[in-house]
Amino acid sequence: MNIHSEWLKKGFVDETIPAGVDLIGAIKKLKKEKNALLMAHYYQKNEIQDIADFVGDSLALAWEASKTNADIILLSGVLFMGETAKILSPDKKVLIPDFNAGCSLADSCPADAFEKFIKQHPGHTVVTYVNTTADVKALSDIVVTSTNAVKIINSIPKNEKIIFGPDRNLGNYLQSISGRDMVIWDGACHVHEKFSVEKIVDLKKAYPEAEIIAHPECKKPVLTIADFIGSTASLLKYTQTANCNQFIVATESGILHQMQLASKGKTFIPAPPSDSTCGCNDCEFMRLNTLEKIYLTLKHEYPEVIVDENIRVKAIKPIERMFELSGDLLKK
Ligand code: 13P
Repeated sequence: MNIHSEWLKKGFVDETIPAGVDLIGAIKKLKKEKNALLMAHYYQKNEIQDIADFVGDSLALAWEASKTNADIILLSGVLFMGETAKILSPDKKVLIPDFNAGCSLADSCPADAFEKFIKQHPGHTVVTYVNTTADVKALSDIVVTSTNAVKIINSIPKNEKIIFGPDRNLGNYLQSISGRDMVIWDGACHVHEKFSVEKIVDLKKAYPEAEIIAHPECKKPVLTIADFIGSTASLLKYTQTANCNQFIVATESGILHQMQLASKGKTFIPAPPSDSTCGCNDCEFMRLNTLEKIYLTLKHEYPEVIVDENIRVKAIKPIERMFELSGDLLKK
């Protein structure tokens, strides 16, 4: 077996980096030499966020990927984010540090099953959350992210029937906010489903001044006790502007890094999941990415994200529709 088929099997470049290599310096050098842009989602490890050219939520990452002049986009996040970048920038080389960095929500919605679901509900506008495969996007009319979902659902004419997938918690939340009756796919994010409302209530007793802020992928009991609900970018912004100094944060704990950087004097407490004693709730797929893998990915330009051209031309339409309907949310 040659080295490339070994990497293919593993899903990442498995090469020993000599001791003493200045990883951050080496990554910066490779980025410059190759005109590569390193983009990171807010759920990435702190050290990755710190060297990224751009850190953002799913909407901002997609928007930046559609505008960049870089030759290479290295997307440190999960696979669907790399696919979205490739759909939007087909002429660029799009790399991700580890093919094993999937998304439980995207995996909960296989394209063939979703296609049958659409056929069972004819005459519906198909709205899908960005956390989906390119194949599912290709079946959709409009893509949304948690930043623009409320705005976009509200913009759909009242007489249009809506299918929403794949996140049942976000779907139920959107129904309650918009008053729209939607047919919802039964999928979920394993990280956001795990938050324990009992443990959050206990934390609130320990920090009575703290506000509870939550991502809309959380289950209803958590959203019910939240003072503010929003996407990662909206939560970050809220913590900067709210008249409060302590926050219990119910989303993947990677976002706390930017919150702490933006609001130095404030206290951020990660909301705990039900099944752990450590108190943190990390996405193990997001955390597969490391500085070592980023260095090796840039060096070997592998793993590269490839999207079938027939799928890409279909999948770009609902994403472009999303950009059209996002309005000023793209500039924030
Ligand atoms: P954001 O759109 O808030 O970045 O959320 C992305 C995500 O994957 C949440 O699980």
